[in-house]
Amino acid sequence: MQTYKLAVIPGDGIGPEVVREGLKVLDAVSRTYDFKVEKTFFDYGGERYLKTGQVLSDDELNGLRAFDAIYLGAVGHPDVRPGILERGILLKLRFGLEQYINLRPVHLYNNVPMPIKNKGPEHIDYVVVRENTGDVYTGEGEIRNKGTADEVATQVMIYSRKQVERCLKYAFEYVLKRHATAPWKGLSDEEKSQGYVGKLTLCGKSNVLTNVFDLWDRVMKTMSAQYPQVKLDYVHVDAMCIYLIEAPERFDVIVTTNMFGDIITDLAAVTQGGMGVAPSANINPSSVSMFEPVHGSAPQFAGKGVANPLAAILTLKLMMEHLKQDKAAADIDRAVQSVMLRMKSMLIGQMGYSTAEIGNMVAQSL
Ligand code: IPM
Ligand code: MN
Repeated sequence: MQTYKLAVIPGDGIGPEVVREGLKVLDAVSRTYDFKVEKTFFDYGGERYLKTGQVLSDDELNGLRAFDAIYLGAVGHPDVRPGILERGILLKLRFGLEQYINLRPVHLYNNVPMPIKNKGPEHIDYVVVRENTGDVYTGEGEIRNKGTADEVATQVMIYSRKQVERCLKYAFEYVLKRHATAPWKGLSDEEKSQGYVGKLTLCGKSNVLTNVFDLWDRVMKTMSAQYPQVKLDYVHVDAMCIYLIEAPERFDVIVTTNMFGDIITDLAAVTQGGMGVAPSANINPSSVSMFEPVHGSAPQFAGKGVANPLAAILTLKLMMEHLKQDKAAADIDRAVQSVMLRMKSMLIGQMGYSTAEIGNMVAQSL
């Protein structure tokens, strides 16, 4: 029987409770589809840091390479200064394991309330491919003359050609995979007749960040020769914030830099029903990948049973796709949609059911 070694990092705040529901769902699909998941739990997070002063050692990081996947709830603690856990755990994992893609599908399910009038599931169905190892996230920079009137702080937006190439290659391939059986519905008949199957939009700021997006643009155009079926598109990040609200149907796959991807996917999450339903995958195509909901640890709601576990559950759908358990992935998707039809809202504390009830309902609908 196929056996997967899964590292589970429940983390802080609502992390453990949404992960608990996720694992119920994972156990249920593994029974149905006849595979085994061997789980190993790790207590990395804010609680451990406050007790022991440890964030995440190199040995602990390297230990995770032996797993087939990592399932992470959330890290973040109100008593820990901002940056310590984010840099010391989350970004250390993403960078250290070279999970260079942060995949964030944006899909509005039926019956999910969200604030844009006149837009529905037929309009909101795209994927953000967020570069996950470069940009201002590397922390390159300094504070000079600290505390003086001449103080200067820098944090540099930095991209190597190699980082840009591997990210764009993944994005182009993703477009083809997404439309392997049917072209994207946003294409015109003429575009379809020209052989296009989908569209790749680069989200940047080429009018100001002239160096960085010159590199992205050149690499994208060169690479596009190998992907003549993919229509190229470019949108500035500020305009993106308009289109994601007013015309989300114009997007198929959006590829963008780390910081812009962070920002636009929070906006996008609102249009898919909120942080309670937004999943993500940190992917290293040739090593171990890590699956985590987009939301944080929401400490003020921890332990109350009000958090929505669907983001953590949909994250497992991405894990199943990654592990090539496509039937299990499709089943999770169906079960989540059927449970959404019974919920009042996707928002924390307003769901009409507790965290555990939702987990049970999804597991039973499989
Ligand atoms: C996210 C988070 C992280 C990020 C933080 C916690 C470092 O906001 O996963 O989107 O900026 O990537
Ligand atoms: Mn974020």
